Amino acid sequence: MKPALLAAVVLAGTLGTLPSHAGPTQTAVLETYAAQAKVAEPGFAGFSVERGKALFLGRFTTGKPDTPSCTTCHTTDPRKEGQTRAGKVIGPMALSAKPDRYGVLAEAEKWFARNCDSVLGRACTPREKGDFISFMVSQ
Ligand code: HEC
Repeated sequence: MKPALLAAVVLAGTLGTLPSHAGPTQTAVLETYAAQAKVAEPGFAGFSVERGKALFLGRFTTGKPDTPSCTTCHTTDPRKEGQTRAGKVIGPMALSAKPDRYGVLAEAEKWFARNCDSVLGRACTPREKGDFISFMVSQ
């Protein structure tokens, strides 16, 4: 079996069958978050595209007042370009629109740390990160 296919099978076994454009690098990142989520939440039963979508679209009052939602910068359409508060262009979040997304754990971690703090006023949990990426790789 090819490594990519094997990874997809392992991921399906760990995470349930998710609609996905994920390649081996995104799969590896998702597997890391799944392993962390199992430790953090004994009842962890896999990531959810629907929960990831809800996190992406949700509005929060616990973070900074000028960033109540991920969509403040990323827009409500993951396939579209977004914009920072300063007006700098942000590439699309959907993996289909920007295939180099979510393949480097350190990169994902850096931006989850920053953006979850801005929007939620706290760190995202491993499950939330996996849900978010699961949604974005399905787009
Ligand atoms: C203040 C503007 C802003 C908000 C609000 C924001 N982001 Fe981002 N986000 C950025 C910028 C800027 C980047 C880095 C530029 C890029 O990757 O194109 C980024 C990148 C990311 C990445 C990195 C993706 C990769 O390529 O690995 C993730 C993950 C992410 N954001 C998640 C979130 C989540 C989850 C939320 C809501 C909880 C959120 N962002 C809210 C500005 C924002």
